[in-house]
Amino acid sequence: MAKESSPPVPSVDIPDVVDVTPEMILQTETEIEELGKTDEQTLILGIETSCDETGVAILRGGDQVLANVISSSADLHSRYGGVVPEVASRAHVQAMNPAIAEALRLADVTLWDMSAIAVTVGPGLIGSLIVGVAAAKALASVLEVPLLGINHLEAHIYANFLEHPDFAPPAVGLIVSGGHTLLVHMPAHGLYEVLGETLDDAAGEAFDKIARYLGIGYPGGPAIDQMALGGSKRAIKFPRAMLRRGYDFSFSGLKTSVRDYIRKQEEAGVEINLADVCASFQEAVVEVQVHKTIKAAQEYGVTNVFVSGGVAANSRLRELMGVMCEESELKLFYPSPVYCTDNAAMVACCGHYRFERGIRPDPNIDPDPNLHLA
Ligand code: KG4
Ligand code: ZN
Repeated sequence: MAKESSPPVPSVDIPDVVDVTPEMILQTETEIEELGKTDEQTLILGIETSCDETGVAILRGGDQVLANVISSSADLHSRYGGVVPEVASRAHVQAMNPAIAEALRLADVTLWDMSAIAVTVGPGLIGSLIVGVAAAKALASVLEVPLLGINHLEAHIYANFLEHPDFAPPAVGLIVSGGHTLLVHMPAHGLYEVLGETLDDAAGEAFDKIARYLGIGYPGGPAIDQMALGGSKRAIKFPRAMLRRGYDFSFSGLKTSVRDYIRKQEEAGVEINLADVCASFQEAVVEVQVHKTIKAAQEYGVTNVFVSGGVAANSRLRELMGVMCEESELKLFYPSPVYCTDNAAMVACCGHYRFERGIRPDPNIDPDPNLHLA
């Protein structure tokens, strides 16, 4: 609820270049002691600009999403079949102020009600990250509230805390997105052990590349997911890459195999059943991911399993992971599709938990395109 004494929602006017010095965000010891005092009224404004989505969210009490504004520039990239970084960063500059204003309107709060600002600092596209971090620094400076720099991969994990009160570490899970494929052990809040990663493409990238090759749309993940519904997942036997070899992943052999299959069919003059190709390709990806996740959960003796990131919206991944977790007596958590793909609610949520743990905010945060989870 908006405070009566709060000034009206301003038309936020953030200059393109925000040059904030550390001194501008001075925090006294007393203010820092205030950290860790979260309650159900704590309001965090989250900002996400790591790729092609400008996200601004307002979160109350760690799990009440009052606003989750997402402005995507995907349409601008679709003709190129992938994100064009310069186009994405320009779109963030245009979308940022309207997205903040819209989030405040939806949440019916003002900027002066915020307890802290949380922003993605990496990994991601540097030009895109700079826009979000600059906006967040300016807001934190003007409002004199803590600034929390958030790891995008960690935020994907925290998307699970938005909707599942019973989700808690220790847990093992997959972060599968357009830029990353990680199998992670999370023994406690804020602690991560990366068990495996992709040796080549990210899972979402493989979906996008195959969809582009098949000419069925961009982004490719949802297009393949949709088309696969009408096909048979056993129609074509694509390889299960590195199924029994550790916790790393690889998609290059599978991609080659799909291309070889299409080429041979064309050479033989056989009509290609795109639905079968999509369903069989998707099954090859999903089976390996599910197998490795269950194996890791068992090896690390955890019962909570999570799936996060854009590819976690995949219907077959959710289905097969659900079946296999039930068989193995594991508890599976995944976010609603809107919190799987890039959004700022997950960034605010991750910020809330950090704030709660009393982690000292840093006004000097800088974007880091190659930031690691652990
Ligand atoms: O997490 P995200 O929004 O951005 C990154 O952090 O990269 O993930 C985007 C990726 C894209 O590659 C997109 O094709 C994929 O997630 N994706 C899906 C589905 N929805 C989005 N992949 C498979 N099935 C889906 N339903
Ligand atoms: Zn992401």
